[in-house]
Amino acid sequence: MRTIEWREDGTVITVNQLKLPNETEFLELRTCDDVAEAIKTMKIRGAPLLGAAAAYALALTAHHSKGKDKAALIRELEVAAEKLRKTRPTGVNLFWAVNRILGKAYTFNGDARETAAMIVEEAKKIADEDAAANRAIGRHGASLLEDGDTILTHCNAGALATVEYGTALGVVRAAVEQGKKISVIATETRPKLQGARLTTYELKRDGIPVKLISDTMVGYVMYKRMVNKVIVGADRIVQDAVINKIGTYQIAVLAKEHDIPFYVAAPKSTFDLTHTSAEVTIEERGPEEVLYIGIERIAPEGVAVLNPAFDITPLKYVTAIICEEGILYREDLSSLSRTAEKK
Ligand code: MRU
Repeated sequence: MRTIEWREDGTVITVNQLKLPNETEFLELRTCDDVAEAIKTMKIRGAPLLGAAAAYALALTAHHSKGKDKAALIRELEVAAEKLRKTRPTGVNLFWAVNRILGKAYTFNGDARETAAMIVEEAKKIADEDAAANRAIGRHGASLLEDGDTILTHCNAGALATVEYGTALGVVRAAVEQGKKISVIATETRPKLQGARLTTYELKRDGIPVKLISDTMVGYVMYKRMVNKVIVGADRIVQDAVINKIGTYQIAVLAKEHDIPFYVAAPKSTFDLTHTSAEVTIEERGPEEVLYIGIERIAPEGVAVLNPAFDITPLKYVTAIICEEGILYREDLSSLSRTAEKK
């Protein structure tokens, strides 16, 4: 099953990622508000998945619209789009998908019913394209991996963060499918523990050897040459940097220090080459995520907290970016930036 699916009865099915790995709970989402709430609370997460989820949220709005004419439908879609844009600010795929669907709706020649049907099809197309992009990323990225490699990955850039197959984990999967022996070291990824909860879960299910470490162990495993490549995903790739889960930057700096290649795997829908890192809003999440582990409070009452959900890795630390079109180096990105269109 894909991580997110459209049902012809006008519902969207996905898995509640907050409950994994202990419980597999499927969510049946019926409205844009349902999707927006699932995104905000991180039941749905991972930049490419947020793109598909936002597209399906607009599809739900259109499919269930009671608007009498196309103008009324457009108004409903604009309200829904605004709600979605306010959920999580950093990953660009959500904004890209919302703008793509709205743009299609504005220019489509048809009545409200036909426009709604077109939007549902466009959302499905966005999901299909993500699945295809991940397979292509896997194929390109696998050429960089050798038999016997141990890959360090951070957060979860797997099937759960995308429509299927994954970006960073897609590369690992493709190499394994080619018969290469690959093992993975996954960081736990405090505070939300996507590495511990989701990456190890996915890899175990696939039978790919994985060892879990705490975030504090990255320097040690590099120093001891226990990993020989890093592959992470991205939430937004801008002109000068890769923006990804908090903790990515320190891993990239350590990788450079130890001469370990640092690869970023992401579809073109994650590229935002009309902006620089200074222009991106880094999501600041609530203090309870840092103050608690599970239900246990780990810090004294009244302590102040910082909780940025993402960090910024300057391109000088990135060996290459693997996207569906191939492997890109810094120079390729600069020339892409010159012709990039606003998302
Ligand atoms: O806060 P999250 O869990 O949505 O953050 C996810 C990440 O940072 C992933 O690494 C990124 O979205 C790439 S997923 C293919």
